[in-house]
Amino acid sequence: MSTKNFGGWQQKSGVHPERVPDDLYPSPPEATECLLKHVRFNGAIWECASGLGHISRVFLEAGYEVVSTDLRAAEYEYGEAGDFLASTETRAPNIVTNPPYKLMREFWRKAFTLPGVETVSFLVPVPSLSQVGVQKLFDEFGAPDQILVPVPHLKIYMGRERGTQTSLFAHCWVHWNLKEEKRSSSEFRLVNWRKPQEPKTPKAKKKGSGAAP
Ligand SMILES: C[S@@+](CC[C@H](N)C(=O)[O-])C[C@H]1O[C@@H](n2cnc3c(N)ncnc32)[C@H](O)[C@@H]1O
Repeated sequence: MSTKNFGGWQQKSGVHPERVPDDLYPSPPEATECLLKHVRFNGAIWECASGLGHISRVFLEAGYEVVSTDLRAAEYEYGEAGDFLASTETRAPNIVTNPPYKLMREFWRKAFTLPGVETVSFLVPVPSLSQVGVQKLFDEFGAPDQILVPVPHLKIYMGRERGTQTSLFAHCWVHWNLKEEKRSSSEFRLVNWRKPQEPKTPKAKKKGSGAAP
């Protein structure tokens, strides 16, 4: 069976539809809500591949100052135009994004090497963590402080169409606090993103049901 390269690992053809241009796979809001529940950020956020604004909006609603930039901002009508990989200045101390999968490692390297960055949080597919290139990055810059795997499996959106979701890979947040010393291992946590369920109210008995007197 033929295979396609999907951001660094192989996938069997026929399992996943065609790639969306520029990897526009917006993050469902519950992904960012989950990050905010478990990580505290000091200062402003830079969403450096902001797409249609799915991550930015959750941070804005939570009261953060957010700078949103994207290569195709004009087309998406959200944020400012900006090629993150060509950036030489840091727009805010906390970089948070769901990067384009095919450029994930380049995004990481850029985030680690820009001046004044304090934290980096990327939403990435779990299988990407075991790529040789990713492990090399972790050796060079230190392992993430936290790897948060939202459960159950997050469904990432596909392109602009609302409601079209893919759940081929489990995703996780990888978070670094660059002000701390380089680490050789990470804290790994499964974090449930679902809102607590309301207790079920017992169904009222139908009229006429039950034993006849
Ligand atoms: C997986 S989508 C994520 C969008 C958004 N971060 C979210 O989570 O909803 C990746 C985004 O990266 C943008 N992108 C691709 N290359 C880029 C670059 N060099 N600089 C900035 N943005 C880029 C694409 O236009 C797309 O919006």
